[in-house]
Amino acid sequence: MPSWRDGKLGLPVREAIKIFPELEKYLDERGRLDLSNRRARILYNKAITRVVFDIEVEYHPKGLITTPISRFIFLKTFLRGGEKVLEIGTGHTAMMAIMAAKLFKCDVIATEIEDEFFEYARANIERNNVGVKLIKSMGEVIEGLILMEEKFDAIFSAPPYYEKLTKGGLTEREGVGGGRYGEAFSIRILEEGWQYLKKNGKVALFLPDKPSLLEVVIKRGVELGYTYCDIKFKVGTRCRHSLIFFKR
Ligand SMILES: C[S@@+](CC[C@H](N)C(=O)[O-])C[C@H]1O[C@@H](n2cnc3c(N)ncnc32)[C@H](O)[C@@H]1O
Repeated sequence: MPSWRDGKLGLPVREAIKIFPELEKYLDERGRLDLSNRRARILYNKAITRVVFDIEVEYHPKGLITTPISRFIFLKTFLRGGEKVLEIGTGHTAMMAIMAAKLFKCDVIATEIEDEFFEYARANIERNNVGVKLIKSMGEVIEGLILMEEKFDAIFSAPPYYEKLTKGGLTEREGVGGGRYGEAFSIRILEEGWQYLKKNGKVALFLPDKPSLLEVVIKRGVELGYTYCDIKFKVGTRCRHSLIFFKR
């Protein structure tokens, strides 16, 4: 299991400063990092990704700042190692796809729709020398993009889940899931994913702690014939859910 030298899944700020001395200027008088600052967040997460997971990522200047610890915990909830997996919407860092290939030895296909994110994802995959196959979506989710013959042990995604964008820092496609509660994108993955799963395959969704959203996604998953398991976990101050749907 990856960890910092103290055995924990994290990195003390003073260690991150040794890697990126620029972080020093974002400390307050009590030595706390100003994580409301975008540049500070990027550098701190880059440092964690490097020293805890031995992964090098460049973040797109305008993209979502993917946090490595939450993504790793999410992957741990459903991967055992060596699976054939599909990630929908890998984003500019391609962090989960890289982790799945490098840390879980999975055979990975990942998709992304935004042109610039796709190019960043490609560079991050190359930088880490992992064999992730990256596919450009033109609006498809799975059908029409992935060959019908491909069957996966797991299909996973940190899907866009807002009903509308209320603050900056996210592109429309990163943020807006569609539907009344932001559930439409997640439901599309469940609907289209079924026929791409092997027997006992699963769909895993990384979602926020938003009951209205979770409820409608679970309801549709059960209607489709999946059984499910909801694993709630906390990283820093945020609660996240790994919603895992099983095709039995
Ligand atoms: C919430 S972000 C998650 C990014 C990254 N996987 C992570 O863990 O932070 C959702 C991503 O899905 C991408 N996306 C949106 N619609 C898509 C589609 N139809 N096919 C592939 N990617 C899509 C967005 O551009 C964005 O990068």
